[in-house]
Amino acid sequence: MIIHVLQLGVGNVGRALVGQILSERAELKSRRNLEIVFCGLFNVNTGAFSTAGLTADQINSFPDSAGHEDPATAIAQMPKPFVVVDATSSAATLPLLQSALRRGGAAVLANKKPLAGLQSDFDALMRAGKNRLYFETTVGAGLPIISTLRDLIITGDKIERMTGCFSGTLGYIFSEIEAGRPYSQAVSAAKAHGYTEPDPRDDLSGIDVMRKVIILARLTGRRLEPDTVTLEGIFPDSMAKLSVDEFMSKIPKLDEEFEARSCNAKAQGNVLRYTASVTPKSCVVKLEAVPKNSDIGSLNGPDNIVVIQTERYHDNPLIIKGPGAGANVTAAGVFADIIKAAEVLRD
Ligand SMILES: NC(=O)c1ccc[n+]([C@@H]2O[C@H](COP(=O)([O-])OP(=O)(O)OC[C@H]3O[C@@H](n4cnc5c(N)ncnc54)[C@H](OP(=O)(O)O)[C@@H]3O)[C@@H](O)[C@H]2O)c1
Repeated sequence: MIIHVLQLGVGNVGRALVGQILSERAELKSRRNLEIVFCGLFNVNTGAFSTAGLTADQINSFPDSAGHEDPATAIAQMPKPFVVVDATSSAATLPLLQSALRRGGAAVLANKKPLAGLQSDFDALMRAGKNRLYFETTVGAGLPIISTLRDLIITGDKIERMTGCFSGTLGYIFSEIEAGRPYSQAVSAAKAHGYTEPDPRDDLSGIDVMRKVIILARLTGRRLEPDTVTLEGIFPDSMAKLSVDEFMSKIPKLDEEFEARSCNAKAQGNVLRYTASVTPKSCVVKLEAVPKNSDIGSLNGPDNIVVIQTERYHDNPLIIKGPGAGANVTAAGVFADIIKAAEVLRD
């Protein structure tokens, strides 16, 4: 079987994905009788597209030798069966995904934004996608959080509470603060290591974690709009409009507050963790003190964790823990979703 792929976004994750697919292509063909053909690669205002499949040279030299193809036109011409991969970080891909699904294609997303905006957009995607919409890596990157949750739900389990840490960046920062480092130095180190977005406020606002919580909550059947999530960022609103350089120069004034919070937590056997929780009635994203010896309190560095308490896993909750970011593990999760989508389209 041939599966045609059109990929939106060839950045960190997208580039790693292309590399993984190219190196596994022969193996997939011989072992699973599955041939992956890249028909389109797109970044902002750049695209390479061919219904016959891009050449190795076009793929490897993307975006340097790409033209200005229009992704909407390309999706309308994609040979079937096909998968559209969204490895962008843009909300603008939503109509493209919808039109791919309406044409009978599958969609695989690493990008949270199309799923975490308005409830009506999520509903429309799910309706158009049916069993052709995959987004495992939008929460916990390569960790099997969404597939586990879906399996629990389709077999009739009742989700009582999901609590976790879903930001590798904030995990790193609060592990550093726990080790005695001032907040400003922990943020600067996270930025220097490349753990933060170019503007660290994109992480410190908690909005990225909020998007993950919205996706998890919606999978459990909750209907909610983003503004109903209780969200506590970890910098004051008054610093929201500063330039990145101004922000970085002013954060030492927050050191005292975080040191006091960390010391108070420590005095009670607790540590600070940036947590998210989903229950049938609430979605909360906040900084909180948790017991040091708890599953969440013992999490270290940029790892992610989710503790899922259900009717069946009530006394001893199900826990998934491990690296929750990184281009390679994320790309591998997207790759696995593409193969699952191909198997569904094959039937
Ligand atoms: N990195 C991780 O560890 C990780 C883990 C889980 C999920 N994710 C998610 O995976 C996605 C990609 O992450 P990344 O780290 O690869 O980001 P990135 O390096 O910033 O790459 C994003 C790419 O998307 C392209 N793009 C943006 N808007 C587009 C549009 N409307 N149409 C086509 N292409 C567009 C950008 O093109 P230009 O270069 O032209 O701007 C860029 O090449 C994000 O949604 C992220 O949240 C990442």
